[in-house]
Amino acid sequence: MSEALRAGIAEALTRARARTAGLTECVDESELVAQHSPIMSPLVWDLAHIGNQEELWRVRVVGRRRPVRSDIDHLYDAFKHARANRPALPLLEPAEARGYVATVRDKAFDVLDRARFDTRLTDGGFAFGMIAQHEQQHDETMLATHQLRAGEAVLHAPPAPRTPRPPTGEAIVAAGEFTMGTSTEPWALDNERPAHRVALPAFAIDLAPVTNGQYAAFIADGGYRRPELWSEPGWAHRTAAGLVAPQFWEPDGAGGWWRRVFGTMTPVREHQPVVHVCWFEAEAYARWAGKRLPTEAEWEKAARYDPATGRSLRYPWGDADPDDATANLGQRHLEPAEIGAYPRGVSPLGVHQLIGDVWEWTSSGFDPYPGFEAFPYREYSEVFHGGDYKVLRGGSFGTDQVACRGTFRNWDHPIRRQIFAGFRLARDVTPTAADAPHV
Ligand code: AVJ
Ligand code: FE
Repeated sequence: MSEALRAGIAEALTRARARTAGLTECVDESELVAQHSPIMSPLVWDLAHIGNQEELWRVRVVGRRRPVRSDIDHLYDAFKHARANRPALPLLEPAEARGYVATVRDKAFDVLDRARFDTRLTDGGFAFGMIAQHEQQHDETMLATHQLRAGEAVLHAPPAPRTPRPPTGEAIVAAGEFTMGTSTEPWALDNERPAHRVALPAFAIDLAPVTNGQYAAFIADGGYRRPELWSEPGWAHRTAAGLVAPQFWEPDGAGGWWRRVFGTMTPVREHQPVVHVCWFEAEAYARWAGKRLPTEAEWEKAARYDPATGRSLRYPWGDADPDDATANLGQRHLEPAEIGAYPRGVSPLGVHQLIGDVWEWTSSGFDPYPGFEAFPYREYSEVFHGGDYKVLRGGSFGTDQVACRGTFRNWDHPIRRQIFAGFRLARDVTPTAADAPHV
């Protein structure tokens, strides 16, 4: 049992490291240390921060080993220096950073070889899974930095699947309780815990995320020029930031749009989910469409609730891990797939593409579940609770499966657009006479 666990951990860590290497070896050193955007770290910071976090938890805490480099902890503490200031720090040079992460990884594998998984921190391999997720989360952040960098394409992948029949319409979800969050998923992070019952009124949720074609119709209908469609803070931000379309979109001069995708200009594909929109843009689109964003609980019920059994599944399609047929995850493609491209991934309620393709903005702020306990450190989740954040669900084409589940919670500021985020719509359902209890 513990040998299978060890092998699974090793596989997740090795997959993460291959991705980290790919994202940091495809550009020259000047680009690794450069700041591609003031809201992002230089790639070489993410690289050494990945190693530093692995050193802290796996080498020092779990392994009780002497530090590899305690002198650099402050440089790679995300709370000590804002992203904009990181290029000016005396960071490890690219070659030093590569040597550092390799040294840490060797020691961490030695710790894994001897691990007995008999403490709260290592139960079910948690601390190791947490570090694999952390590396993959920074890999997705580095992928967003790649999308922001100017210059020719350096990343390549086959196009995401197309589909002849995009799903339309919505699923109606009857009023009732479901189980939200988890107490049993071994690598679930603190903010996904504990499992708890949530009662929701009836609601409708779209079968698919909002597409580029639908979003272009909003733009063409004056979506960015009509303050009545925006909330007050949304309109203030739209105006100050000069938003006129999703980030990376450029008009083609004939009423259509192109977008820059990892250094390559490509026509905007009508049936792909829209990506690189902020929460305020999603909110305005929803008002234009006469709907609203789903709450986080509604999203999770649509993704996990199986009305046949009353159980909540790990993923929309069941309890099996994701694969190529169920979801567009893991940077296999550098774009979202067209809606309807993963019929094997639909939820019991018939909803498509809840996992993968684009992170989905919800209407909910980032708050703790009842019974939440910070573990193993307050700075992962707790310090963000109640802040200016909105929850995103479901993962994107750039999210690895180790960092994505039906319960996984992500969050960001409502103005952020560099993440691979889109959204789907929901609405209230008024109980009809047929649903009303007979008296
Ligand atoms: C959960 C994606 C918001 O990147 O800020 C990485 C993940 N936490 N290192 C982030 C994280 C610490 C976090 N998000
Ligand atoms: Fe981090």
